[in-house]
Amino acid sequence: MKNYFGYTDKLCVVTGASSGMGKATVEMLVDLGAKVYAIDLNPCTVEGITKFIKCNLASKTEIDETFKQIPEHIDCFFGVAGLSGAKTDYRTTFDCNYTANMYITLNYLKARMSKGGAIVYCTSTAGLEWKKFKKEQNKVVHAKTWKEVQELTKKLAASAPATFAYMYSKRCVSQFACEQSVEFAKLGIRMNNVLPGSTDTGMKQEFQDMVGSEEGLIAQAGLAGRLATPEEMAYPMVFLNSEMATFISGLEMLVDYTDTCLKTLGLKKNLEAVSATNPIICALAKKMMNKEANSHALKSGSDDKK
Ligand SMILES: NC(=O)c1ccc[n+]([C@@H]2O[C@H](COP(=O)([O-])OP(=O)(O)OC[C@H]3O[C@@H](n4cnc5c(N)ncnc54)[C@H](O)[C@@H]3O)[C@@H](O)[C@H]2O)c1
Repeated sequence: MKNYFGYTDKLCVVTGASSGMGKATVEMLVDLGAKVYAIDLNPCTVEGITKFIKCNLASKTEIDETFKQIPEHIDCFFGVAGLSGAKTDYRTTFDCNYTANMYITLNYLKARMSKGGAIVYCTSTAGLEWKKFKKEQNKVVHAKTWKEVQELTKKLAASAPATFAYMYSKRCVSQFACEQSVEFAKLGIRMNNVLPGSTDTGMKQEFQDMVGSEEGLIAQAGLAGRLATPEEMAYPMVFLNSEMATFISGLEMLVDYTDTCLKTLGLKKNLEAVSATNPIICALAKKMMNKEANSHALKSGSDDKK
């Protein structure tokens, strides 16, 4: 039988390899015969991986240490790791979701990949409106160093709620992927972007708390009537970096079971079409979130006394 996917002995690097979509991606790649370097904060327990490297992707130093442990030639990169911002601060959320992908791509993948290489990022439908807000992202997306990104996002990190870092970072990755796919195409390296809708992963509870219920999350999964499984997001990522997709580059692949189509057709409200950096909106959102957190704390305090 022809080896359609062509992963045998390919050196694949996967971030976010220990849970959810990243773990499902690692499992598939191992099955397909790839040599997998699994990167995550937490241990990756998938049998058959070549190496697990513990790395905090919000740290430039740890990324540099990690890439010292990965062989010089890389065939495929899967940038899957991400944080919702529900439990981490703005800086950590933004750096894990955006800065790490930018830094790895420009400093390591460009130098270590060759013709035929392939990159896929996992962003989110939350970042879909990036084209509308390019002005907000331009400077950050065009910054070439870790330090520059830190400087440019310093004010936001101090004033905006961390959950806003999610939407902003995903928009930045989408724009970065679109622009860099052109640069990497000149080198014969493909670059694509998968935009998942609501998926049942380690992040589910955090998103559920944000929308208030599981039904609220399911309502964000288009007409599926259920959340996606991690595998249903890993399939398109594995496909895009495979030999089955050799003419696909610069694609934003929506994996949301019509959720975006419903919005495009005006059949559903688009709540994502708001600024991610406007100081008034950020301040208002932060105030609202603090108020909600305080009322939760008060409520649990009075529950404790019962
Ligand atoms: N679950 C959803 O509904 C949903 C929807 C859209 C997009 N996404 C995106 O999918 C991607 C995968 O997330 P998931 O849903 O599988 O969640 P998950 O929490 O199951 O997996 C995320 C992984 O990233 C790792 N990680 C987090 N911060 C890290 C850091 N600083 N350094 C290294 N590793 C770190 C975690 O340890 C975890 O293994 C993320 O980029 C997320 O934003 C998720």
